[in-house]
Amino acid sequence: MEALGRIGTSQSCSSSFESHDDCNAGLLAVWHLTRLPILCILAGVFLTLKWWLSRRNSVGLGEQIVELKIPAQTFQPLSKPITEPGISNIQPTPTPVTKPSLSRAKREPKRVLGSKAGRRVSPKSHPNSETASIRIQPMIFFSSLTGSTEAYAKSVQEQLIEKASASTLEPQIYDLSYIDYDDYFISAPESEAGIKYCYLVLVPTYNIDTVLNNFILHLEETHHDFRIDNAPLTGIIGYSVFGFGDREGWPTEEDGFCSQAKDIDRWLAKLTGRRRAFPLGMGDVKADAKARLMEWVGGIVETMSNIAETGSLGEGVIGSGDAVESDVEEDDTEDKVKSTLGDLEDIGIRTNTKTSLAIDFTTTDTNTLKPMVPKTSPTYASLTKQGYAIIGSHSGVKICRWTKSALRGRGSCYKRSFYGIASHLCMETTPSLSCSNKCVFCWRHGTNPVGTTWRWQVDPPEMIYDGAKEAHLKKIKTMRGVPGVKAERFQEAMRIRHCALSLVGEPIFYPHINEFLTLLHNDHISSFLVCNAQHPDQLAALNNVTQLYVSIDASNKESLRKIDRPLHRDFWERFIKCLDIIRSRRYDMRTVYRLTLVKGFNIDDEVSGYADLIARGLPCFVEIKGVTYCGTSTSAGAGLSMSNVPFYHEVQTFVTALDTELAKRGLHYGIAAEHAHSCCVLMAASTFKRNGKWCTIIDYDRYFQLLESGEPFGPEDYMGEDTPEWALWGNGGFDPADQRVDRKGRAIEI
Ligand SMILES: *[C@@H]1O[C@H](CO)[C@@H](O)[C@H](O)[C@H]1NC(C)=O
Repeated sequence: MEALGRIGTSQSCSSSFESHDDCNAGLLAVWHLTRLPILCILAGVFLTLKWWLSRRNSVGLGEQIVELKIPAQTFQPLSKPITEPGISNIQPTPTPVTKPSLSRAKREPKRVLGSKAGRRVSPKSHPNSETASIRIQPMIFFSSLTGSTEAYAKSVQEQLIEKASASTLEPQIYDLSYIDYDDYFISAPESEAGIKYCYLVLVPTYNIDTVLNNFILHLEETHHDFRIDNAPLTGIIGYSVFGFGDREGWPTEEDGFCSQAKDIDRWLAKLTGRRRAFPLGMGDVKADAKARLMEWVGGIVETMSNIAETGSLGEGVIGSGDAVESDVEEDDTEDKVKSTLGDLEDIGIRTNTKTSLAIDFTTTDTNTLKPMVPKTSPTYASLTKQGYAIIGSHSGVKICRWTKSALRGRGSCYKRSFYGIASHLCMETTPSLSCSNKCVFCWRHGTNPVGTTWRWQVDPPEMIYDGAKEAHLKKIKTMRGVPGVKAERFQEAMRIRHCALSLVGEPIFYPHINEFLTLLHNDHISSFLVCNAQHPDQLAALNNVTQLYVSIDASNKESLRKIDRPLHRDFWERFIKCLDIIRSRRYDMRTVYRLTLVKGFNIDDEVSGYADLIARGLPCFVEIKGVTYCGTSTSAGAGLSMSNVPFYHEVQTFVTALDTELAKRGLHYGIAAEHAHSCCVLMAASTFKRNGKWCTIIDYDRYFQLLESGEPFGPEDYMGEDTPEWALWGNGGFDPADQRVDRKGRAIEI
């Protein structure tokens, strides 16, 4: 007090320095006059200092560097403390609410609904009648301690204004620190007819107690409040969350990267009745936050225009919008269908086989040709039930489980390890659902038609190509709301880079297969084509593809008859002819033998026979894969059971023996790579080694460059980078960049 008094009154004192008492009395008078403002200032300084110190000791993750000039490691006093309503000018409800009272729910009841709504409110339940006049009102919510998330949120607002379609209203933006949660997160705010809210939430990650914790707690309490419908936000049309994190301190999601964004995403899934409109986005503030956010916004823009068009989030796969991941849908769809298909073979296939031998495409009057898979046929119904999209009358597309896996940041199929194909960029399709074999291990032959010649209507290649792309992307989009799908990979998947013509049926059966391939290549989509080695004429006429496969299901005639159950009488002659064609194309493109090992059918005593077949066709590569069992009635009828599935070590033993046999014949092959997860090993001709290292990866850009140059080129000319270390024989083949999970989707410690 003394010191303060002196400072405040030094001027009045200087004139009468000697008279201490007088001076003191004067001082006291002045003090009485000025003490109130002084005390106030003091208290202010003290509080600011205390607040600053506490901020300095706490650790912020996720927010500290972006765009602000604050050095990453230090926390400076903020020019704009969070208690200052920074953006009140754009808030329709400018009254800053101090800390939302968490006990509010207990004191005064929130809105009480008469009954609990069902837990699973499907997005589909939205009536489509609203379609005509729906407009989307984006609501951006953010939380920001340092201001950087706020800056990001504002940039999202600007981008939406700039890019969003006419059906999207100007986004409103709210700081989670200043709104009353009850206004937005207990029920959807009131809106004019035809306007639907879409919530976009942007949050940093902090491991200290912040307003974010209150927010998450509020969401949780609302969900659990017995007086409130547990999905009270079903009134909004959709939501998506973006989190900012710091990979330096929290490298993985398990370590807590973007943990609060993940929590919010999960709670909103529950509160909105599974209305995740777009995958949870995540960005590293020290690396890719801006790029990831851009992608996310791009996806949001597209999603909102889809919603405006259709009036709802649209069709999602099973599990879409769920709060947490589950793998159930991946495994059971096919099996469920299969068990109901026991009789299909009798209806479809037997009649097909009888007539197909008599009729030939070339001699049939085209006017009387029937569709291969009519929309009203049981085959059509069962294929669509299994997840196929049927294009035209004889083509199909399906999303494979690896595509889904890759979208979730988990593993890709062996084509990633061997050839550099990320599964989420790969489209699986076939222009012919029909096949001329009934292989015992084919999990599709219960449903797809078979025949030895093309005797159906022919759809034009452009129609199949456009239809396939559209159906593929549509199916990818149904993954939008699946928990765990990475926004980044989802956006990448919108551009198809690879096409696997191996789905079901026999692609080279289609009379315009070459035109179809040209369409793919024109769009720089690589082509992997698998054929069954039963159509030498079509194979000889086939254009060059990126990689050409023949299925080698046995090493001798008797074994092949048992396992492939071919429809052609001269199947063995056809088979051998195809291998000779493969040899003649050895320097045109990458050729591959695909061996499918079935225990008790084609492994024992056949190693030497396979080596002979390789010597005959001299493929660039040999893929050896253990059969996968799917428990269909037809495969059971063929005598196949779980005991026919080889263990991975048995596949490895076979491959080692085959390697020895090839060496004995003086052939230069070696075991290059493996993907233990899919029980698959790759052998390669030694010409695919560079500086002593395997290079089985394909340089796709180079491939299209060469193709467009018009000059002849060989398969070694589009050899890409070295096969990654983790994929090499002996290393297992799991990409360390992907997350390993068990059957229930939990992370596995490696
Ligand atoms: C396939 O590639 C080879 C080598 O580049 C070339 O000579 C041949 O003409 C190509 N065939 C077709 C059908 O394009």
